[in-house]
Amino acid sequence: MVEFNFNISSIFQEEICIIGNDLIPHGHTGDLNYVFLKQKMVTILDVMGEASAQAQGLKNPITSGSKMLASEGQTVYLLVDRKAVSGAGAVVGMLKVGRKKLFLLDNCGKPNELSPLCVLDFYVTERRQRTGCGKLLFETMLRREGVEPRYLAIDRPSEKLISFLKKHYGLSGIIPQVNNYVIFSGFFKDQPADASKAREAKKPRIYMGKLQYV
Ligand code: ACO
Repeated sequence: MVEFNFNISSIFQEEICIIGNDLIPHGHTGDLNYVFLKQKMVTILDVMGEASAQAQGLKNPITSGSKMLASEGQTVYLLVDRKAVSGAGAVVGMLKVGRKKLFLLDNCGKPNELSPLCVLDFYVTERRQRTGCGKLLFETMLRREGVEPRYLAIDRPSEKLISFLKKHYGLSGIIPQVNNYVIFSGFFKDQPADASKAREAKKPRIYMGKLQYV
C-alpha cells in the first residue's frame, strides 16, 4: 500500500475512484476545496506513477499529475483501502486508460487506422499483487468503458500483465505490430464503431468563452 501524509479516506468516498483530466474524482461530494483537492491528486498520481515506473523498470513515469492535466480523454482508476493506516486510508493500485490513434496491423499485415481504448499504465502495490486487486480495477474499467477485453490495445505490456490478461480474459495469440502496442487474436473481428477512425481526432475550440471539443 502507498501511504500519504494526508487523509486518503476523506478524499475518496469509494473503494475505486475514477479520475479524469480535471483531476477531480468523479462524484466527489466532499467539502474539500478544489484547489486543495487538485494538489492532493497531483501528489497521488506522481507517487503512484513513480511506483509503477519502478515496478516496470522504466526510467520515466508514464503517469503523473502534470501529464494527466495535459492529456485529453485519459482516465485513471484508483483502488483505495479506506480502512488502512487506522482509517486514514492508502492507495493500493492504479489503472490508466485512454483512446489513442494507432496504425495497427491485422493478421495479414495490412495497416488499419483505429482509435482503440489503450491500457497505458497498470500497477498494484507489491504486497497486494496476486490477491485480485488488479482484476477488481480491470473489471471496473471494462464495465465503465463498455469495452470487451479483446478490443483493447496494450502499451508495452509486462510479462505479469500478459499473464494477467491470459488468465482472466483468455487473451493470447499476439498479432505482431511495428509499434509498442500489443493486440490479441480477435481484435479485428467485428470491431466496435467507437474504435473506428471517424470518432477520434476531435478538435479543441473556444466557444462562448468555454473550451469544447468538436
Ligand atoms: N508473475 C507472473 N504473473 C503475475 C504476477 C507475477 N509476479 N503477478 C500477477 N500476475 C498475473 C498472473 O496471471 C496472476 O495469476 P496467478 O497468481 O494465478 O499466476 C494474475 O496476474 C493475478 O491477478 P490479480 O491478482 O488480479 O492481479 P494483480 O493484482 O497482481 O495485478 C498487475 C496485475 C497490475 C500486472 C500487477 O501484477 C503489477 O502491478 N505488476 C507490476 C507492474 C506491472 O507489470 N504492470 C503492468 C505494466 S504494462 C502496462 O501498464 C501497460
